[in-house]
This record gives sequence, C-alpha cells and structure tokens, in this order.
Amino acid sequence: METVEKIPILGLGTWKRTPTSFVGCIPGCLMVCYAIGSDTSLKLCFQLVCCWCIEKQSSLEAPGDVTNAVKVAIDAGYRHFDCASFYHNETEIGVGIQLKVKEGVVKREDLFIVSKLWCTCHEKSLVEAACTRSLRALKLSYLDLYLMHWPMGFQSGRNELPLDQEGMVIPSDTDFLDTWEAMEELVDAGLVRAIGVSNFNHEQLERLLNKPNLRFKPVTNQIECHPYLTQKNLISFCQSRGVSVTAYLPLGGSSEGVHLLEDPVIQRIAEKHSKSSAQILIRFHIQRHVIVIPKSVTQTWILENFQVFDFELSEEDMNDMLGLDRNLRLATFPIAGNHKDYPFNIEY
Ligand SMILES: NC(=O)c1ccc[n+]([C@@H]2O[C@H](COP(=O)([O-])OP(=O)(O)OC[C@H]3O[C@@H](n4cnc5c(N)ncnc54)[C@H](OP(=O)(O)O)[C@@H]3O)[C@@H](O)[C@H]2O)c1
Repeated sequence: METVEKIPILGLGTWKRTPTSFVGCIPGCLMVCYAIGSDTSLKLCFQLVCCWCIEKQSSLEAPGDVTNAVKVAIDAGYRHFDCASFYHNETEIGVGIQLKVKEGVVKREDLFIVSKLWCTCHEKSLVEAACTRSLRALKLSYLDLYLMHWPMGFQSGRNELPLDQEGMVIPSDTDFLDTWEAMEELVDAGLVRAIGVSNFNHEQLERLLNKPNLRFKPVTNQIECHPYLTQKNLISFCQSRGVSVTAYLPLGGSSEGVHLLEDPVIQRIAEKHSKSSAQILIRFHIQRHVIVIPKSVTQTWILENFQVFDFELSEEDMNDMLGLDRNLRLATFPIAGNHKDYPFNIEY
C-alpha cells in the first residue's frame, strides 16, 4: 500500500495571487473569493470583494517570479514543491525545475513534486488527462504525490468555477471514492508515485480509509493549519490512522486583518530564539510532525524560511502557540458552501 517512503517535511508553496486565480479575502466575514477565468465568475467576485482585494491586485506577481523562486529554493536546499493545476503556474515552475536539473544542482529523483487534481476533473474519465496536463506543464514524467485538491466535484468543463445564478458552485454528481479509484490507476500507470487528499474532514477521510478494496492509502491530508487554527483533533485523527498532515497557509497567508506574523506571542517567542516570526511559525509544524509548505517568491524569505533546523521550541513555547487557537479558518471557500461534500460543516 505504501508508495512513498518519505515526504520532505519542509516544502515551498507556489500558490500565486493573480486576477485569474485567488482574488482575496474579506477580513470581516472571512470570505475567501476564488475567481477563475470566466467573465461571470470574475464579475461575481469583483462584486463581492472589498477595496482591499482590489488594491492588492496592483501588487501581483510577474510570471517569472515563481521560476526564480523555484531556482532560489533548490539552491537553498528545498526539495519539496507544492503545486496545483488550479494555481496556473505549473509551466513556470517546470522551467525552474528543469533548469536546476540541467545545471546538475539536483537530480529529478531527489525532488518531491506535488500537484493536485482540480474539482472539475473528478469524473473518472477526466482524471488521467488532468494529471497528464500537470505533468506536461511541469515537464516531468511522474509526480511524487498527486492530491485530490478538495473532496468536492464540480460540473466539468472549461470553467474551473462553474457558478449558478446565485453565485454558488455547480456540483457534479461524482463521489470522491470513485475519483480515488481513478487516482489509484495513476499509480498503476507510473504517472504518480503516491496519492493523497486535501481539505478532507475526518469523516471524509474515514470514509476513504474504509472504502472496500482500497488499494492505495492517502499518504497525506493537506489542510489549513497555523496557531489560529491548530487542527488538534484532525491532526491526531490523521496521525492515528497513519496519514501524514501537510499544513497550508502556515504563515496566515497574506490576508488583511489577520496578522499572524505580528502576533505578540509569536514575536516574543521569535525574539527569545533570535529568529523571525515566520521561522517560529514554520518550526511549530515541524515539532508537531506536520509537513509545512510556506510560500514565498522573495529571495530573502525563501532562504529565511529554510533556516528552521538549528533551534528548538520549548514545550512552553509550543503550548503558548497552541493556546492561540481561535478556530480561525481563512480558506473557507464559501461559494462551495452548499456542496454535499463541503468539508467545513462539521467540527473537524
Ligand atoms: N490545498 C489547498 O487547498 C491549499 C490552499 C492554500 C494554500 N495551499 C498551499 O500552501 C502554500 C502556502 O500557503 P499560502 O501561500 O496561502 O500562505 P503562506 O505560506 O502562509 O503565506 C504566504 C505569504 O507570506 C509571505 N511570506 C513568506 N515568507 C515570509 C517571511 N519569512 N516573512 C514575511 N512574509 C513572508 C509571502 O510573501 P511573498 O510570496 O510575496 O514573498 C506570501 O505573501 C500555498 O502556496 C499552496 O502551495 C494549499
């Protein structure tokens, strides 16, 4: 059943903010607004977003930024890269990887490349083509890990966020257990070394683990996690079932109104260890045996975020950080809130 031996505990996140992907987070209502491509979804999103989100769009990343980030990261020692077709930058990431392999800095087999199956490709017949598209963009012959991005299937088609009149996502009638079977076939075909899930709650994960004739266990559940959303129950559930946890949004992202990096408790601990707040937030996961994938396109931050193996947080530091929990979820995906498999309607 086990198909990967080890996942590097620290990886580089690659999700970029662009007008054709994530648009923003409204601080007051914590609404995360996704907008992809189509005029309708963009229009809807702009109706929903606040001035902050619009303002933020002036500081978007240039296409080459992520290529450069990957190059800097590989030179710095990163080997794990968290990608997704939904991020619309796998081609640029592939350029960075290929360059470093050609330069002889790293071998393909030393890297751990993750991608994700988007919700509009949950139908069994669409899974292999979706994976192949990511492989082609990344210029790879196999992925180390392929994740089901969300447990929810959306209506298939070119629009990655098909919306109804009310602006809510149009579901597909797929079941994630069937999608999983198609993902298992990717392992058989040698296109991916392992498969996993993302944004699954414990009931959904349990259902998958109890699936009759399960051939490959999910190796990880990638979930939002940071001191404001410590995910104590979900982490212990996953770890007790032999499923690793990967923490996304470990620095609290770039959400206005949420200043995890400036939290006084985090800053006090950072000062004590002569480290930055980001390093403290990253180390927090490592000591919980949780894989962590901070994102940055800024050279100094990419380097800084990797310097987290030369110190240790005390039990008291860890408890102080766990004490900051306020069940504050940033990635709520509200336009999918009516979906039968929306994962955030139960406690964990
Ligand atoms: N599975 C899912 O549904 C899901 C959802 C969200 C995210 N993810 C994955 O998780 C990754 C991480 O999450 P995220 O990108 O949302 O948020 P994050 O890693 O918590 O935060 C990224 C933000 O922090 C800034 N930053 C990075 N290092 C810093 C430092 N040392 N000091 C100050 N600021 C710093 C980055 O700036 P710059 O980039 O400008 O340098 C960026 O604005 C994503 O990139 C993606 O790969 C997965």
